[in-house]
Amino acid sequence: MENAPRAAVIGWPVKHSRSPIIHRHWLKTYDLAGSYDRLALEPEKAEAFFRSFSSSGLVGANVTIPYKETAFSCCDEVDETARVLGAVNTIVLKDGRLLGSNTDEFGFLGSLDSGAPGWDEIGKTAIVLGAGGAARAVVWALLSRGLTVHLFNRTRKRAKVLADRFGSGVQVHEFDDLPTILKTVSIFVNTTSFGMEGQPALDVDLSPMPGSAVVTDIVYVPLETPLLALARHRGLQTVDGLGMLLHQAIPGFELWFGHRPQVTAELRSIVLEDMAWDEKLGEA
Ligand code: ATR
Repeated sequence: MENAPRAAVIGWPVKHSRSPIIHRHWLKTYDLAGSYDRLALEPEKAEAFFRSFSSSGLVGANVTIPYKETAFSCCDEVDETARVLGAVNTIVLKDGRLLGSNTDEFGFLGSLDSGAPGWDEIGKTAIVLGAGGAARAVVWALLSRGLTVHLFNRTRKRAKVLADRFGSGVQVHEFDDLPTILKTVSIFVNTTSFGMEGQPALDVDLSPMPGSAVVTDIVYVPLETPLLALARHRGLQTVDGLGMLLHQAIPGFELWFGHRPQVTAELRSIVLEDMAWDEKLGEA
């Protein structure tokens, strides 16, 4: 099909991206013409590529590390979330113009809404660990649902910069304050690399948290991080990081292929299977 829409994930490197599995599964499930590939883009070519995106033959793309800021600066128009986060992860060509959006907030909220329905009604205070790009999207998402955010980060200065960007809804704390703040929150979010395979586990005592609280991690390898295991043993609701990865893909697919897809148990298991394969190949 010559005119079938083509999309891709663009990054450097890009071979570990799970996006092709997700989008190809949806193309097959909904029986849609189209394709989704990986595009490894050399850093010296990146800006020119995005500036002349209309000649790439693609209808749009996901943009991943390290090009989210480059794409942001090359778009003709960006949505509010991309503007607030200063980063674009989804692009689409419309009438020759390059439109950029950031779907990380959508993905984070979609994952919580399906994994812990009513999570934003339990209480209106959150703890966020970390102050990087992922934390920025998470904080923005929590604020959009009316929560106050208590922010903890190894480098306090970085947390302060993030908090200043968002105003009085975000308060920065020292780690010594964690046990006291834990007593008051309805959700705890880890956005740091703690708990990721090969990284140290987060050493936190969750016992002061209210029994109704939710704990979520944006790390999804392993699927159940030591933090989530701790929360589960404590009897708290947990939401793993895979949901955010799957949900953030929805808006792009709809933009490029014209159908709003669903995150299903089948999709989750296909992605998990692929992750298990990678692990096996890594061991080989
Ligand atoms: P991302 O865009 O995925 O959020 P990032 O911008 O590199 O990635 O941010 C990583 C976050 O994990 C930061 O909050 C970082 O803390 P610093 O701001 O102090 O660097 C946090 N982080 C990573 N490794 C850490 C470690 N070993 N101990 C504590 N915090 C760590």
